[in-house]
Amino acid sequence: MEDYKHYFESNRQLWNKRTPLHRQSAFYNVDAFVAGQTSLNNIELEELGDVQGKALLHLQCHFGQDTLSWARQGANATGIDLSDASIEEARRLNQQLGLDAKFVQSNVYDLKENLQGQFDIVFTSYGTIGWLPDLEQWSDIINHFLKPGGTFYMVEFHPVAWMFDDDFKEIAYPYHNTYTPIVTETEQSYTDGSSHEKLTEYGWNHSLGEVVSSLTAKGLQLEFLHEFPYSPYNNFRHMEQGADGYWRIKHLGSKIPLLYSIKVNKPKN
Ligand SMILES: C[S@@+](CC[C@H](N)C(=O)[O-])C[C@H]1O[C@@H](n2cnc3c(N)ncnc32)[C@H](O)[C@@H]1O
Repeated sequence: MEDYKHYFESNRQLWNKRTPLHRQSAFYNVDAFVAGQTSLNNIELEELGDVQGKALLHLQCHFGQDTLSWARQGANATGIDLSDASIEEARRLNQQLGLDAKFVQSNVYDLKENLQGQFDIVFTSYGTIGWLPDLEQWSDIINHFLKPGGTFYMVEFHPVAWMFDDDFKEIAYPYHNTYTPIVTETEQSYTDGSSHEKLTEYGWNHSLGEVVSSLTAKGLQLEFLHEFPYSPYNNFRHMEQGADGYWRIKHLGSKIPLLYSIKVNKPKN
């Protein structure tokens, strides 16, 4: 990971700048969350199921709303994130809500040095693995932190969606991971009211084959891989909300996948 250090540092600064803007955005709607509304979507709530009494590790938790939502559902939750500003805000919310989630500032790749223990569930969602260059080491971390018999669940934006330019008019990026970062100069995040100074973000696209094979190569057993032609968020340009409440690219409708979810289980021994 030494070669990627500069990219991680740039991404950490980007997420530190974005955290206070996201905290105030209607997109993240912290007031509703504080008042008791879950930040989780039906997809992950239904597909992951009962977390009551389970030790849950949330990778790339941002400022902790989803981690704290799992804690409200009875999980013994730990969230980790690269951004120190995000972790500070997550700890503040945890205290404000009187919950007992734990938050650790760490790069996913350094987690063995920064966190002890094993978990019944490892969870990650919506906009996470695109910040990671190498899934072999990512799946090794997941396997390391899963108890025998434990479950890893993820729901993520589809690699086909990341192939398009911002306007979803042309194919601009490769489907497969080239390990060379996709570099974007940005002054805007995906939430409302989130203009910031010009910052550089470094990302990587991961094909479904790369994701699934990285997990199964560690001995994790695939329970399902689901694909969805919609997103629960208005997070790309030119989206419109359907009668089902989900968002699609207006001029593409349900022609392309926007999400996928994966559940894998670690054998009992
Ligand atoms: C889109 S956000 C998290 C998604 C979550 N669904 C949300 O919206 O709150 C992506 C998060 O990944 C974190 N991140 C990026 N690269 C990381 C890395 N190498 N290790 C740990 N966290 C990382 C960022 O700091 C950011 O908080």
